[in-house]
Amino acid sequence: MAAGIDDIAVYIPRLYVDASDFAHARGMDPAKLEKGLGVSKMAMVDTNQDPACLAANACLKIMQKNKLSPESIGRLYVSTESAFDESKAMNSYVIGMLEQVYGSSSFEHCGGVETKFACVSGSYALYDNTNWIRAGEAEGKNALVVVSDIAKYDLGSSGEATQGAGAIAMLLNDKPRLLAFDPKVTATSIKDDYDFYRPFGKETPIVHGQYSNLLYLIQVRKALEAWKNKVISSGLLEIGKDETILDYIDYFNMHLPYANMGKKALAYLIRHEWRSLPRWKPLIDKIGMAEPQPKDPRGTIESVLGDQEFMEKDHEFTKRFTNTEEFQEVYESKLASSLIASKMIGNLYTASLYLGFRSSLEFEYQKGVDLAGKRIGFGSYGSGASAMVFSGVIQPEYESVVKDMNIEAEIGTRKKLSLEEYEKIHENKLTIDQSLLSPKKEFVLVEIQTKPEYRGERRYSFNE
Ligand code: COA
Repeated sequence: MAAGIDDIAVYIPRLYVDASDFAHARGMDPAKLEKGLGVSKMAMVDTNQDPACLAANACLKIMQKNKLSPESIGRLYVSTESAFDESKAMNSYVIGMLEQVYGSSSFEHCGGVETKFACVSGSYALYDNTNWIRAGEAEGKNALVVVSDIAKYDLGSSGEATQGAGAIAMLLNDKPRLLAFDPKVTATSIKDDYDFYRPFGKETPIVHGQYSNLLYLIQVRKALEAWKNKVISSGLLEIGKDETILDYIDYFNMHLPYANMGKKALAYLIRHEWRSLPRWKPLIDKIGMAEPQPKDPRGTIESVLGDQEFMEKDHEFTKRFTNTEEFQEVYESKLASSLIASKMIGNLYTASLYLGFRSSLEFEYQKGVDLAGKRIGFGSYGSGASAMVFSGVIQPEYESVVKDMNIEAEIGTRKKLSLEEYEKIHENKLTIDQSLLSPKKEFVLVEIQTKPEYRGERRYSFNE
């Protein structure tokens, strides 16, 4: 049975920080954000928004667009790493908000949980719900998987330039118009590590940025190896002599903590795949330097990062490699479109990979490419750490959904924050009722109880 993504809705808060304003305020070269990281705007939540209401707004959009009734939804999962309760699941808040519109108890039959594993949990939720459909347990109903996050780092930290916020709702069913997942090839890798984590009660994460960049690459590569083995042993794809399985992927979608991380990841994976192929030798001649080796090739991530001579040479090698026309051809035709929305919006943690997917559909379609039958490869990564590599094929009906995609229109009119406004919001200096915008037809947070017996209870309303 086919199963996959039928439609996608995006909800992005309409406040943003401009990368160049941010860079000037922090004494940074704006080119580091624009060119080095690939960040031009970072979406920010208003004082009356939390990850649950972002998720509910994305759900409402997808339900209204597809005229879905609550009865047609069998499962509603929310994946997030911005949880504000250690016990009550975020999907329950979302159900509460949706019932304000669809009627009390209208979602009573609907199952679901909140899932957590940094930025990768949405991919696990998609996989589990796809299997619920494949197993015939859905009995014709749809699943909604919502990925929702507020990517918030400490003021003045190196991560501060890679913030963002938003939610993406994905409608899954057995007749997906957009993408059917390839069965029995989804692959994972997992490791107990501390590249990025957020201990109980802390609002922002503890981050070892360069360590997490490298761990991301290593884990995704391991999952890619496992995916390749499954693809070949299952007979899903047959590769010819002197080819790599990546030649058979039409589009790559990578986890995007910032847009340029997608390019870094693609370069890393391609480099490892091409190294054993005849195409590598002429490329090395063109690059004009041998591939550098760390002093201790079997060393730890720390030893590799601490090997300054290697890091510098590897940086130079990567720069030359990514400038070759061979890499550029792959980058432009298979990845670049997925990075456009990330540059406009910033980091969405769990939702970043799916914003990339949504972006590649819109911008590849605009180029006039016929997307039917194209195979998409996904590289999902969550700190802590786990990676998931999986794939799917664009369905013949895709055009009926993709032709109306317009990310700018979907976000709506945005308000640029001054650095003073941004810092006040960031440091929680404004109260819920001091919101900067007055949204219409959206869920907003109106109260968080402080009395000891009700502490933490949240109330939301739908603004008509
Ligand atoms: N003009 C153009 N590019 C510039 C530049 C300038 N003036 N200054 C720096 N750059 C480039 C760097 O060369 C680098 O690009 P490269 O990686 O292709 O070489 C990029 O901008 C980032 O610079 P870097 O010095 O590595 O930034 P940083 O050390 O301040 O931090 C992160 C980068 C990503 C580590 C940091 O933002 C972070 O900790 N983010 C949160 C964690 C995260 O996202 N992890 C990813 C895995 S989930």
